Amino acid sequence: MDDERIVSSLTLDDDEAESTLRPRCMADYVGQDKIKSNLEVYISAAKARGEALDHVLLYGPPGLGKTTLAHVIANELGAQIRVTSGPAIERAADLAAILTNLEKGDILFIDEIHRLNRNIEEVLYPAMEDFSLDFVSGKGPMARSIRLPLKKFTLIGATTRAGMLSSPLRDRFGMLMRLEMYSAEEIARIVRRSSGILGIEIDADAAHEIASRSRGTPRVANRLLRRVRDFAQVEGLETIDVAVTKKALRLMDVDELGLDIVDRTVLEAVIDKFGGGPVGLDTLAAATGEEASTIEDVVEPFLIQLGFIGRTPRGRVCTENAYKHLGRPYPRTGTTVQMSIFDAPSDAD
Ligand SMILES: Nc1ncnc2c1ncn2[C@@H]1O[C@H](COP(=O)(O)OP(=O)(O)OP(=O)(O)O)[C@@H](O)[C@H]1O
Ligand SMILES: [Mg+2]
Repeated sequence: MDDERIVSSLTLDDDEAESTLRPRCMADYVGQDKIKSNLEVYISAAKARGEALDHVLLYGPPGLGKTTLAHVIANELGAQIRVTSGPAIERAADLAAILTNLEKGDILFIDEIHRLNRNIEEVLYPAMEDFSLDFVSGKGPMARSIRLPLKKFTLIGATTRAGMLSSPLRDRFGMLMRLEMYSAEEIARIVRRSSGILGIEIDADAAHEIASRSRGTPRVANRLLRRVRDFAQVEGLETIDVAVTKKALRLMDVDELGLDIVDRTVLEAVIDKFGGGPVGLDTLAAATGEEASTIEDVVEPFLIQLGFIGRTPRGRVCTENAYKHLGRPYPRTGTTVQMSIFDAPSDAD
């Protein structure tokens, strides 16, 4: 089933294709206007003062452009960027080594920062706040605490789970920026830009068709575009038109809202196996054969955004709209659902 999944984790090929499509400067970074205009002010102020930018936390669902934006920020600052991730840092000493190697104004990008171990995270507190490392040398009565100065750097953290960050860590970021899903117009712009880079024409309607089925997510849009391009090339078309786009999307099982097989499997499980819910996340994962984290990070945000699924204290419920979309009769009324996805604890059920 994973092969069918348009939003699944990346293969290497996809990774390469993604990096060619990745905007390098603010002007090419589509949408997220509020974040961009704020950042432009902070970046030019930091540059004018010759200081490092304040630490930035970027959060929001996968594929919305957090990693891309971190690189854009570095580029706009003319700064070096060091890239690592929460799970890649196994020991506090590894993080200390990275930090001591940073030069003034460098950017340290920590992806999946919510997955840092707590004891490693503690190394970051004085590093972010006072640009110093605290460690203890020697043992017993001879132990001394030593403070080592660091160069003034900028930490950019990215996470799909802001709620899982400890508050001491979250509080040390000067800027907390939540990326929003993109409008269809913005995604259509991204699709047109990407097809230019991929070297194929696309007409406006086709770009719009892809955009409206991309779940407001640039990564999904680019991936759909690449597959549609394959169909167009096989058919010998010089321009991607709506007809080939619709055909390709139908063959990929992406429906008119952008839901694919996995989304429908999840909705059908809630409706058919659990009477519309509430059903706990782990139970739903077991019933669909998907990882709980995939459901929570990748599948659910969009279904919640569509108003198809809601979170209640007792688990997930399907709404009337979900029944309608699947063409099922809606059995009951009066379910109250909590629609906020970002701040709900990850194990709300
Ligand atoms: N604002 C944007 N304008 C144009 N293209 C974008 C934009 N944001 C993202 N993209 C495209 O979408 C792809 C995915 O973005 P990116 O890898 O930055 O997402 P992410 O938020 O880091 O996802 P994850 O949470 O999975 O790490 C990029 O390779 C880029 O091509
Ligand atoms: Mg990323």
